[in-house]
Amino acid sequence: MSIMISTNADMLLVCAIALLGLMSVSLSAPLACEDLIRPLDQLDPRHLEGRWAMVAGSLSHLPFMERLRSRESATASFSSNTSETNISFRRSMRRDDKCHYASYNISLEGSSFTFDNGSVNTTFTHTSCRDCILLSFDIESGKRQHFYLFSRRRQLEQEEIEEFTAQVECLKMPPPDVKDPSKELCPEETAGNPSAQTEEKTEGQRS
Ligand SMILES: *[C@@H]1O[C@H](CO)[C@@H](O)[C@H](O)[C@H]1NC(C)=O
Ligand SMILES: *[C@@H]1O[C@H](CO)[C@@H](O)[C@H](O)[C@H]1NC(C)=O
Ligand SMILES: *[C@@H]1O[C@H](CO)[C@@H](O)[C@H](O)[C@H]1NC(C)=O
Ligand SMILES: *[C@@H]1O[C@H](CO)[C@@H](O)[C@H](O)[C@H]1NC(C)=O
Repeated sequence: MSIMISTNADMLLVCAIALLGLMSVSLSAPLACEDLIRPLDQLDPRHLEGRWAMVAGSLSHLPFMERLRSRESATASFSSNTSETNISFRRSMRRDDKCHYASYNISLEGSSFTFDNGSVNTTFTHTSCRDCILLSFDIESGKRQHFYLFSRRRQLEQEEIEEFTAQVECLKMPPPDVKDPSKELCPEETAGNPSAQTEEKTEGQRS
C-alpha cells in the first residue's frame, strides 16, 4: 500500500471528507446582519409580563456608554391589566447604590411602542435567547440608538453574549457593557416601599 495509490474508493472518500468540511464551514458561518437584526414578527404580551434584568447593552452615542457602565444594575418590568395592548412599563436603575425609577403607560403597536412623549420608539428585536427580551431604542428619530438585552437570568451563556456582541457589531455600535450579575437589583417598586421613590423626570438621554 502506498499513499500514491488512488482507487475510485479513495477518491470517493476524499470527496466525502471535502464535502463534510464544506458543510461544517457553511453551518458555522456567521449569520448575516439582516438575519441577526430583525424586529420580532409576533410579540405575546403575556411573555413580557414581570421583571427582567439588564444583562448587556450598547449605546450609539459613545459618551453615554460611561453612564451605562456606571449603572450597577437595571431592570425593566411589564404588566398588562385588562387590555393586552395597554401595558405598564417600569424601569429601575441602580447607580452609586441609589435606585431610580421611571414608569410609563405604553401601548404595543406590533412589536414596537413609544414613550417619553414619542421621543423614544422601542422595538422588540429577535434574539435566540429564550428567556430574554432584546430592546432597540430609537431616540429622537434616529439621533441615537440604545440596544439592551434583558433576561430572566442575571448571567447568560457565553454564546448568548456572543450573539448580542455580533448584533451590536452589525449596528456599528460600541462593544457592549456586560452587567456584573453579582450587583443587587433595585427593590420592586410598590406603594408601601419607602426606598422606592419614583423619579418623575425622565430625560431622553437616560433612556
Ligand atoms: C386593573 O385596572 C383596574 C381599573 O383600571 C383596577 O381597578 C384593577 O385593580 C387593576 N388590576 C390590576 C391587576 O392591576
Ligand atoms: C398610567 O395609567 C394609570 C391608570 O390610567 C394611572 O393611574 C397612572 O398614573 C399612569 N401612569 C403614568 C406613568 O402615566
Ligand atoms: C409632552 O408633550 C406635551 C405637549 O407637547 C408637553 O406639554 C409635555 O410637557 C411633554 N412632556 C414631557 C415629559 O416632555
Ligand atoms: C417605530 O419603529 C418601528 C420599527 O422601525 C416602525 O415600524 C414604527 O412605525 C415606529 N413607530 C413610530 C411611532 O415611529
